[in-house]
Amino acid sequence: MSLQKPTRLLAFAILIATVQATRLSFDRGLCQRPGNEALHGCPKSTLRVGPHAEFQHIQDAIDSISDRPDPFVILVEPGNYTEQLNITRAGSLWLLGVTDSPNDRTKNSVNVIWHNATGTATTGTYDNAYTSTLTIAPTFNASLTGTGPTGFAVPPDTPFGNVDFRTYNLNFINDYLPYAAGPSLALSISYANGGFYYTRFLSYQDTVYVGKLGNAYMYESEVAGQTDFFYGFGTCWITDSLVSLRGCGGGITAWKGTNTRFENKYGIYIHDSVVQKANSSLAIEGQCALGRPWNPQHRSIFANCYLDDSIRASGYIQWSTADPRVNQNTSMAEYRDFEQYAPFESVSEVFQFPSGGFGNTAWIHRHPRA
Ligand SMILES: *[C@@H]1O[C@H](CO)[C@@H](O)[C@H](O)[C@H]1NC(C)=O
Ligand SMILES: *[C@@H]1O[C@H](CO)[C@@H](O)[C@H](O)[C@H]1NC(C)=O
Ligand SMILES: *[C@@H]1O[C@H](CO)[C@@H](O)[C@H](O)[C@H]1NC(C)=O
Ligand SMILES: *[C@@H]1O[C@H](CO)[C@@H](O)[C@H](O)[C@H]1NC(C)=O
Ligand SMILES: *[C@@H]1O[C@H](CO)[C@@H](O)[C@H](O)[C@H]1NC(C)=O
Ligand SMILES: *[C@@H]1O[C@H](CO)[C@@H](O)[C@H](O)[C@H]1NC(C)=O
Repeated sequence: MSLQKPTRLLAFAILIATVQATRLSFDRGLCQRPGNEALHGCPKSTLRVGPHAEFQHIQDAIDSISDRPDPFVILVEPGNYTEQLNITRAGSLWLLGVTDSPNDRTKNSVNVIWHNATGTATTGTYDNAYTSTLTIAPTFNASLTGTGPTGFAVPPDTPFGNVDFRTYNLNFINDYLPYAAGPSLALSISYANGGFYYTRFLSYQDTVYVGKLGNAYMYESEVAGQTDFFYGFGTCWITDSLVSLRGCGGGITAWKGTNTRFENKYGIYIHDSVVQKANSSLAIEGQCALGRPWNPQHRSIFANCYLDDSIRASGYIQWSTADPRVNQNTSMAEYRDFEQYAPFESVSEVFQFPSGGFGNTAWIHRHPRA
């Protein structure tokens, strides 16, 4: 008995030290600096990806640690990586792009590029999940969109996936065609928590999918699209970011707030951001809808955002004339300030644990400036 207690205390102290060592020795700006072969400022276990590094493909680095529970950082050198990334591991994983401007997404020099779409005569009609550039989900089935009011029936014994996935200074591009031509995802996240900082997601249709039990937070990031380009079942919070309109189709947002046995606040919350056309040659004045309900439990809020003249006077639209999908459970809002909707005013009030409890926010990097 007398020995056990100190041993346990020591083990606990070592555990704390290890976790802190990973976090404390991390200097993001220094770690991401170009030419940092010695990995100054990075956690010791950091993996490097680049033309002359240990790994040439990002997915190879991810696969090399797939069975390990401990946190990892992967540092990616400038370049174009044509690959799909799948993150199934539960342990923290942060992907960092090399840059001398870690607080400016417009200077990002790492592009992860894929070209795929579905749902048209020329593509075939496989699930949207096959198209995504970046997928974070514990299993392939957990990432499936499916059809009908509640989508694909993910098996009930599916474990939760990544608890703290992050990207900093990366661009994810799905460039199947330069216009909406079927679902063509750049991001797909389900059964996982993901934070995206100084990150760009560029496609035309269904750019960002936040699936079942998916939690996504974006800061100083950009999402570009034309049709229904934020869609899903989970919870997405975007702040201080750019929503770039590459045309208008459907709505900017299209959500399915699926009924659960517990109260849910699934939805898309866009705060303090800019919503505007991608460039001045687009003639789309008054044509873009803030959203349309993918099912009647759709919930979307644009709060304290700048909306340019591309947005139509009605703000939102119904799904279609024949099938409006609007009832008393549909929430489609735009607020000029924060005062008016207390139940949704902070991340701790909307991000839920898989069991339904609120306050699932430990994975959010509150002050990511380097
Ligand atoms: C990546 O591709 C773009 C577009 O093709 C090109 O302009 C750029 O130079 C490429 N970047 C690198 C680092 O090769
Ligand atoms: C897209 O991915 C699917 C599934 O992997 C594949 O069958 C199809 O050929 C791909 N399409 C293109 C245009 O590459
Ligand atoms: C990633 O997932 C997609 C969709 O299931 C699959 O087509 C692709 O082969 C996977 N890629 C890797 C590298 O595992
Ligand atoms: C994924 O779902 C399909 C369709 O429901 C099912 O046939 C398959 O067994 C599932 N795969 C796994 C690994 O659960
Ligand atoms: C403006 O944006 C659209 C949509 O992305 C693109 O097709 C077009 O080439 C862009 N035009 C210019 C001049 O950049
Ligand atoms: C609205 O949601 C509540 C709670 O989930 C449900 O009981 C009710 O049937 C829904 N109303 C409609 C019209 O779907």
